[in-house]
Amino acid sequence: MATLAPPRTAPAVTWEISDGIATVVLDLKGQAVNVISRAVKDEFLACFAALADDPSVRAVAFLSGKPDNFIAGADIEEFVALSSAAEAERLSADGQDMLDRVARFPKPIAVGIHGSCLGGGFEFALACHYRVATDHPKTQIGLPEVQLGILPGAGGCQRLPRLVGARAALDMILAGKSERAAKAFRLGMVDELVAPPILAEITLGAAKRLAGGWRPKRKRRGGLLGFLRDGNPLGRRLVFWMARKQVLERTGGNYPAPLAALEAVEYGLRHGINEGLRREAQLFGQLAVTDVSRKLVQIFFATNQLKKDPGVANAPPPVRVQRLGIIGSGFMGSGIAGTAVAQAEVDVRMKDADLARVAQGILAARAILDDRLKRRRITKFEYARLVALLSGGDTYAGFGRAELTIEAVFEELGVKQQVLREVEAVLPASGVFASNTSTIPITRIAEAARAPERVIGMHFFSPVAKMPLLEVIPGARTEPQTVSTAVAFGRRMGKTVIVVQDSPGFWVNRILAPYANEVGHLLAEGASIEDIDSMAVRFGFPVGPVTLLDEVGLDVAIKVAGVMQEAYGDHIQPAPGAGVAALVKAGRLGRKSGRGFYIYEGGKKRGVDESVYGLLGVHPNGGPRPAEILQRLVLGMVNEAARALGEGVVHSPRDGDIGAIFGFGFPPFRGGPLRYADDLGAERIVTDLERLAERHGARFAPCEVLREHARAGTKFYA
Ligand code: NAI
Repeated sequence: MATLAPPRTAPAVTWEISDGIATVVLDLKGQAVNVISRAVKDEFLACFAALADDPSVRAVAFLSGKPDNFIAGADIEEFVALSSAAEAERLSADGQDMLDRVARFPKPIAVGIHGSCLGGGFEFALACHYRVATDHPKTQIGLPEVQLGILPGAGGCQRLPRLVGARAALDMILAGKSERAAKAFRLGMVDELVAPPILAEITLGAAKRLAGGWRPKRKRRGGLLGFLRDGNPLGRRLVFWMARKQVLERTGGNYPAPLAALEAVEYGLRHGINEGLRREAQLFGQLAVTDVSRKLVQIFFATNQLKKDPGVANAPPPVRVQRLGIIGSGFMGSGIAGTAVAQAEVDVRMKDADLARVAQGILAARAILDDRLKRRRITKFEYARLVALLSGGDTYAGFGRAELTIEAVFEELGVKQQVLREVEAVLPASGVFASNTSTIPITRIAEAARAPERVIGMHFFSPVAKMPLLEVIPGARTEPQTVSTAVAFGRRMGKTVIVVQDSPGFWVNRILAPYANEVGHLLAEGASIEDIDSMAVRFGFPVGPVTLLDEVGLDVAIKVAGVMQEAYGDHIQPAPGAGVAALVKAGRLGRKSGRGFYIYEGGKKRGVDESVYGLLGVHPNGGPRPAEILQRLVLGMVNEAARALGEGVVHSPRDGDIGAIFGFGFPPFRGGPLRYADDLGAERIVTDLERLAERHGARFAPCEVLREHARAGTKFYA
């Protein structure tokens, strides 16, 4: 699905007839991408009616007029305007009806796909009779509907399994995946792969052959194994059983859409396509008005808005980064380097104290490219080209032409200021210096700079290649263009970027602080590690707070906790006792050392190490009730988020919620901590927090922002 802006006047669907073939082109004038709206549907129907009646037309070739997009999906604005399940069901049934006419069109239709072909766009292509796609990286084909809490409701749940088999179809539909053209071709989603310049010609040729009576022969993919898996009823039952189990494991039952999609597919295969379509539309209707879908759509809109947000008012356009300098080729530096090359295709120059470390850093950066090659996200040719972009040394040679330099050296003010001074001597006059610090104020680092206006924070999360968020932190003297440059480059690295105030913990670590801190209190009161983690997971977090501490590294966590307590000691108070420091002293640093709260073997978490309780000086004996554990973890975080928003740490509730979802996996179906607060209502939260404060201390005292919302009956989101 995609958004459609103002109304159009020029027709979106045009066609020409030559030699018995109608070439139809879809091009929504004034829009970046094609989307299917009601108006477009009407034009489609009029076009196909005219072509059906025209005896000179024997077949149709369908193309997009956009340079890099086929059809991005159905118009999401129309979708959000739906107010009842019945209305949504009708929208789905209308779409099915239109595509049914396409599928039964008396003359064959071949489509030529270049660019994204998603959701309703792919459902349209599925209804056509032959699919040609370009083998270009921009060509992405799939059914991402479940990511918006709905299902493919225009026949996708019926036609895809019939084309590629139940297993492959479920794999795509239930995860809301899209695939590059080569994979789509292997799976049988498209019939032919071509280079972009000959797409139109090949599509036209296919239409001609179809007009002459030729029909593509489609083999069932996967041979005997494929047949055993889903070519026979028993195998198919097993496929559905497995898929259902996996969905429940992945979603914890919090997301209804994948299960509903599974039902739509299964029902259709059992009762035939017509019954399947009816069930698909019904389920679409039910899902469209769920709270989960609403939340996921809000996140979709928020991320889209953020993609266009320069992050700062009245900024001159960003400097285009072609050469990136990285100082410190350790864990984070190499992650940033590899991701920058893979995503933004920039020339990267790394520097570290000695050549051995640089070599190690380059290898680690290269591992990110190796992974992409292995997953066939890039070709061997692209791989060779990208690897050649990585270089490094133990001097600043090459930094003289870097528009942007990011440091990821040790977390010490002195070291960071030192490298800043050194590199500033060689940077170009307009070069930007960014620090990846997680705890040091950017303004402090910038005190060492000759040009503090070009110093900024770019706080990446680990592992850099996988974590989708980037916090950009202007210091007190940072100029707007430095901000827009950092934001634009972060986006080119594929990150969702929020601009955050230069205050301790920035946004993500700030709101995580009370959540992680509460672990100590809960353990001291006799809660078990498993109980704490499992309550958070049940709420929808990807991992619980204890596991999170192990992942971050307990040494790092202590450092961050120290900074947070110094800054916010009035309300972030550590539990009495030995605390995590005792674990670090015993050599337990978390996953990276194989032992933290949990034990790790061969990269896998193996369970709690009971001796941890002894080291911490606590005894699990039931502890607080599960509901209270959860309340303390979550409301502590919500309280801090509200307080930090009030201080202006993030620009808006939108940025705060997106930061929490993409930064540490706050459950998307709850919309983020501030959206969640709105759902609970400030009054109720304040009452609950006051009660917790009475029993457990001032750290739970509700912040002024929440009190004000409770008094006025207002919300974070208007
Ligand atoms: P690391 O220890 O893996 O890497 C630091 C690298 O900097 C080492 O290779 C070291 O040799 C090099 N280095 C130290 N002094 C240098 C100098 N004067 N010139 C050149 N190179 C020098 O550390 P890591 O984990 O990569 O952290 C780097 C920075 O990123 C720190 O500021 C940390 O707070 C921040 N950070 C770390 C995260 C994490 O999860 N590890 C997450 C977000 C930020």
